[in-house]
Amino acid sequence: MNLSPKSRRVVAVATALCALSFGVAACGSSNDNKSSSSSSSSSSSSGAKAQKVGVLLPDTQSSVRWESFDRPLLQDAFKKAGVPVTIENAQGDKSTQQQQAEQMITNGAKVLLLVNLDSGSGAAIEANAKSRGVKVIDYDRLTLKGSADYYVSFDNVQVGKLQGAGLVACLNKSGASKPAIAELNGSPTDNNATLFKQGYDSVLKPLYSAGKATKVADQSVPDWDNQKALTIFEQMLQKNSNKIDGVLAANDGLGNSVISALKSRKLKQIPVTGQDATPQGIQHILVGDQCMTVYKAVKKEADAASQLAIALSKKQAAPAGLVNGQSDDTARKVPSVLLKPQLITKANVKVPFDDGFLKPSEVCVGQYAAACKSAGIS
Ligand code: BGC
Repeated sequence: MNLSPKSRRVVAVATALCALSFGVAACGSSNDNKSSSSSSSSSSSSGAKAQKVGVLLPDTQSSVRWESFDRPLLQDAFKKAGVPVTIENAQGDKSTQQQQAEQMITNGAKVLLLVNLDSGSGAAIEANAKSRGVKVIDYDRLTLKGSADYYVSFDNVQVGKLQGAGLVACLNKSGASKPAIAELNGSPTDNNATLFKQGYDSVLKPLYSAGKATKVADQSVPDWDNQKALTIFEQMLQKNSNKIDGVLAANDGLGNSVISALKSRKLKQIPVTGQDATPQGIQHILVGDQCMTVYKAVKKEADAASQLAIALSKKQAAPAGLVNGQSDDTARKVPSVLLKPQLITKANVKVPFDDGFLKPSEVCVGQYAAACKSAGIS
């Protein structure tokens, strides 16, 4: 941002006034008007005033969900509730995320929503917040040995079970006998990746042990990096002389890397799984390159997190019925909101559209227009 000395002075004065006045709501939008962040402000209608909230997103590499879905849906949820919010994305850098958290606290945030980049850095952010009287909600990813007040996510073991069952159903359809399966897992530093694997291995392991399928590869993708996933999967193909009949890919981005590698080797379509119901994942499902994805209604996740953040910032109890479980962070049990994921195949591909999550204009373009039309999406 290029500011003239004069406008810099204006900003400095405005910031000082902002810091003096207790009405933090009035400071949100002018203070945080940078391209990487966004904010909205007004005061809450009911009783005590909701205080500033900061949202810490992880990256733009591991999934399009964070910027395309979580950011706008969280922005909306807080705006509707009249709560000033600042949203930042750490672009995969742990020290950037720590600095962003620090900055938010300095700017008056009383609640942070954190999607950690790993448990160690997440726990450090939470310890610092706690020492400054700031509440934290683990958003989507649980911080192991952390100190968050709440955790809001999906039943992530169930996500994995849907992926395992989805892969098996597609393999049965493809008629492969004793299929060779490759597992491409999420980031080893993401607790969710561990839970997804726990879920799909609970479906696949019995098949391996009974000799009904063979596991020919099983590797984690650091930071869910799609480029690394491509290299890893190419090596898997190489090692197995291309004889892979199905791939458990832990999200749509990793699934896309698999599909790209198969295409560049001119290999035939095989069952490939995914997660997140991204526009690209749905396009792949429509044309048969991908066999399933898992739809997680991010709107519900954003709404639940915003309701909890508002309660925390007003020092009120969580809205009745919202907290529905506990999650073990290996040191303690964290009160949790765990939502239900849904399996999506070509048969019910309309679900994320009907739910308002996807727009036909994001998916039904170019070569995918015809497939959308025959699936009844318009
Ligand atoms: C989220 C997934 C996402 C992945 C990569 C996980 O923690 O639950 O929805 O695809 O991270 O960002």
